[in-house]
Amino acid sequence: MPTTLTWLGHGTWLIQNGAHRALLDPFLTDSPTAPVTADQIETDLILISHGHSDHVADAATIAVRTGATIIANYEICEWLGRQGIEKTHAMNLGGTCRRPLGAIKMTLAHHSSMLPDGSYGGNPCGYLLGLPEGNVYFACDTALFYDMKLIGESGLELAVLPIGDNFTMGPDDAVRAVQLLKPRRVVPVHVNTWPIIEQDVHAWANRVRAVTAAEPVVLAPGESLTL
Ligand code: NI
Ligand code: MN
Repeated sequence: MPTTLTWLGHGTWLIQNGAHRALLDPFLTDSPTAPVTADQIETDLILISHGHSDHVADAATIAVRTGATIIANYEICEWLGRQGIEKTHAMNLGGTCRRPLGAIKMTLAHHSSMLPDGSYGGNPCGYLLGLPEGNVYFACDTALFYDMKLIGESGLELAVLPIGDNFTMGPDDAVRAVQLLKPRRVVPVHVNTWPIIEQDVHAWANRVRAVTAAEPVVLAPGESLTL
């Protein structure tokens, strides 16, 4: 059974393989571009990259309703625990855990991670998923960093990169990220949610096509790709 990845706008993804599902960075109900609300999601796992509200907003409510386990850094898991969320799995940078969906590795990200109430949110991260069809890298919120080259050396079927600029890398650095990561396909995200991160995603895709061997895939919120 192929793995399907559905972009739910901003940095939010639903990853499904048969009965196994994971939701990354749930920001739905208050997102201007999400095609669904938090109460419409079913999942077994929730992955969180960092503490900002546009990544954790709906995590607790979805976890309570669905019984999903939340994977996040140690500090975010402690914060969730103080709100009564018991099913958490704490990780830290460089670590991998194995789940029925695949291997889940927590990778570096250059960003920040304060939680919505001002609590310390630990280090931000990305995720490298080892899925049956190959490796999928979610950079999540980050600046460009040269160690993306190391992540790319694992061989990437797909990279998901922020291109919105201002809070993360912008279009220029995201093209350089594609050159370091060398994925087979690449999807731009964290873009066009608000005016401050508006970019021309099709122009970016054309640049990727011109200067890299990767195939850019531009999705609208709610659209899926299959590995
Ligand atoms: Ni952020
Ligand atoms: Mn963000």
